[in-house]
Amino acid sequence: MIHQTQVGIVGAGPAGLLLGHLLHLHGIDSVIVENRSRDYVIDRVRAGVLEQGTVDLLIAMGVGERLTRCGLRHNGLYVSFQRRRHRIDLAELTGGRAITVYGQNEVVRDLIDARTGTGRPLFFEAEDVSIDGTDSSPVIRFRHEGGEHEVRCDYIAGCDGFHGICRQSVPHGDLTIYERTYPFGWLGILAEAPPSCDELVYTHHERGFALFSMRSTSVTRLYLQVPPDEPIENWPDDAIWNEMRTRMTAADGWAPNEGRIIQKSVTPMRSFVAAPMRHGRMFLAGDAAHIVPPTGAKGLNLAASDVLVLARALRGFYDQGRTDWLDEYSDVCLRRTWRAQRFSWWMTSTLHRFPDDGPFDLQRQIADLDYLTGSRAAMTSLAEQYVGLPSEVSFESAGLSGG
Ligand code: FAD
Ligand code: PHB
Repeated sequence: MIHQTQVGIVGAGPAGLLLGHLLHLHGIDSVIVENRSRDYVIDRVRAGVLEQGTVDLLIAMGVGERLTRCGLRHNGLYVSFQRRRHRIDLAELTGGRAITVYGQNEVVRDLIDARTGTGRPLFFEAEDVSIDGTDSSPVIRFRHEGGEHEVRCDYIAGCDGFHGICRQSVPHGDLTIYERTYPFGWLGILAEAPPSCDELVYTHHERGFALFSMRSTSVTRLYLQVPPDEPIENWPDDAIWNEMRTRMTAADGWAPNEGRIIQKSVTPMRSFVAAPMRHGRMFLAGDAAHIVPPTGAKGLNLAASDVLVLARALRGFYDQGRTDWLDEYSDVCLRRTWRAQRFSWWMTSTLHRFPDDGPFDLQRQIADLDYLTGSRAAMTSLAEQYVGLPSEVSFESAGLSGG
């Protein structure tokens, strides 16, 4: 079967679904092709922190109803070291901006519902997805329910994540790769326990980093720094709670509430950028182009920023025939990406223990955190990056009202 469309989108993660809906709002047609099932895409447990700009974007796009009702707005966060928690008042330091805790799977669920409501095509469980013709006449080929499909389009949006095919289809030599892997990963759990604090707690500890977060008023999300590729079998539930208690219990007695563990997994940590984010008629967006370590909570938010820039560029092309915004796409996104990379690297290296760190590095980290939590200037710097730097593209120029 042959499908003719304006934009062929590979991947139905946050980047692909957001782009599809932004294009729909501009009257631009798209076909989204995803190789996993709908349930798999929704159930995948990942990010939880939405920057103010991402929240504003989802609301301006008309997909913020459940987010507004169920998202948990946080006006501050805690940084804990030497067993003391220090609050950073994000809202006060940034003129009222904040973050919202709302699981990535909820964002994806809302966007899939919105897509379904538009009646525009979204294929799940597409097999053998391949792309071709990015220099002149792009096509996406795949098999679906036994039939062969071909999407012929003006442009391809490669929104297929870090392991996807789009970036890999760019000839060697046309992309520059910047990469750093970290000598640790995060063991993450979801526990049936009401959060014992109503804001996130980032904890520095001699035994390694720990993070307290949440998904709702009854579910706590926790992370522990562990060796990279640590087998999850090494961590029975009791061992996880012991280590959480050891690292997170504060001098005032604060510790996370405990409960039944309903999900656990280990994630490796990496910083990665592929440049440029365009090859001919294909644009890379989100994790397909860049990965940040999750300590800065930036991955999902960067994906949203990319597609806002891309949607504006495609709208400029279809409405006015202009190509300058398409030409600028990569540079505009990479500037934000590098600032998020720097912030995520800084959060990661300040809060984690590295295997070859000695006593000097421990004291240096403590001094860094002592300065951070004692200086309004340093806290403001963290706060404005954590809630999200201003968008490169106004909502108005992207065809949305508000923001
Ligand atoms: P993805 O969400 O990866 O979506 C890409 C989509 O493309 C997927 O649905 C995939 O199935 C599909 N796809 C892949 N290959 C193909 C193909 N060949 N054909 C068709 N479809 C394809 N960020 C945070 O801020 N905080 C966190 O705690 C956090 N935790 C994470 C945990 C894990 C295990 C991972 C992998 C990432 C985590 N991130 C976190 C990062 C954040 O989830 C990502 O930045 C975000 O998902 C990026 O969205 P995306 O749409 O670009 O990519
Ligand atoms: C999460 O809630 O999953 C989360 C929160 C903050 C981070 C990373 C992950 O920095």
